[in-house]
Amino acid sequence: MEYKRYHPYRLNEEVRNRNAEVHLHVSDFIYPLFVREGISQKVPVEDFCGVYHHTLETLVEEVERKLSLGIDKFLLFGIPSDENKSELAEYAYAEGNIVYRSVRRLKEVFPEVTLFTDVCLCSYTTHGHCGILVEDSINNDATIEILGKVATCHAAAGADFVAPSAMMDGQVWAIRQMLNREGYNTKILAYAAKYASAFYGPFRTAAISKPAFGDRKSYQLDCRTISQGISEIESDIAEGADWIMIKPAHTYLDMILRAKQLFPKTPVAGYHVSGEYMMLNLLSSKGLADWQSVLWEVHYAIKRSGADYIISYAAPLLAQKLQNNTN
Ligand code: PBG
Repeated sequence: MEYKRYHPYRLNEEVRNRNAEVHLHVSDFIYPLFVREGISQKVPVEDFCGVYHHTLETLVEEVERKLSLGIDKFLLFGIPSDENKSELAEYAYAEGNIVYRSVRRLKEVFPEVTLFTDVCLCSYTTHGHCGILVEDSINNDATIEILGKVATCHAAAGADFVAPSAMMDGQVWAIRQMLNREGYNTKILAYAAKYASAFYGPFRTAAISKPAFGDRKSYQLDCRTISQGISEIESDIAEGADWIMIKPAHTYLDMILRAKQLFPKTPVAGYHVSGEYMMLNLLSSKGLADWQSVLWEVHYAIKRSGADYIISYAAPLLAQKLQNNTN
């Protein structure tokens, strides 16, 4: 019996490195940041390792530290003070709101950064849903009008990309229309295939955006669907998305692969979401896995599936390691 020998390809670290087909670079990472109104110093988010609520000042310091690691892309989430939340989320598009001020300030201090802003209403509505409600159900068409205004507000502040995550039908179209009308050529990173996931828990603590009742299953994708996800991506590209996102990334690697194969010209980002990240953290805190090893493995899996960019809370840890390896 003749058989092929594979062990020589894995013999030692050097050989393994030489045979690696997938690589991570610091330029692959987009790092999420939370800026909160009404706090006087940065506050760690409970049970969300390494994630903080920032003031405008600590946000600037944080970006400076991350830039020194080589991370230059950031996804910004604004958290208004309680009195700025309302039924119709007016503060989400108020000129001079927390996101507007943050983008302005960051672009002033670090013109080289690429800023993505999350465009959603869940942190701005009193009920925590991603859209406007009429008798407890989402009014899609009223919501996309508002999302257009939110995106325009972020564009006016100088955001490079707006990232609509509300999963309203036609949201990319409405945003593109309004940006065009107002004369902004800001790009759109569409949360194209965003599934209704149980892995968003730590994020909702961080964004103070837990729905007061019900869930998001009427607007986010059902985990048992494939073709709806593909179709949502197709619609978003047709409506004017520049990049698309699959979310969550780790649990939906197949959708990243499909997106890459079906839409090879559109950059794909995978969002390694809060619960996926904390799942690895808790596993390692119990001594059941090595924190760095599981992080690398999962990020390689996301990259291997075809993601061009990875939105990840672990970006600084990984970037630090990449920096040490190359120095
Ligand atoms: C806003 C939004 C969510 C996430 C990003 N934008 C949560 C949600 O849909 O409830 C989740 C990100 C994460 O879990 O890290 N709609």
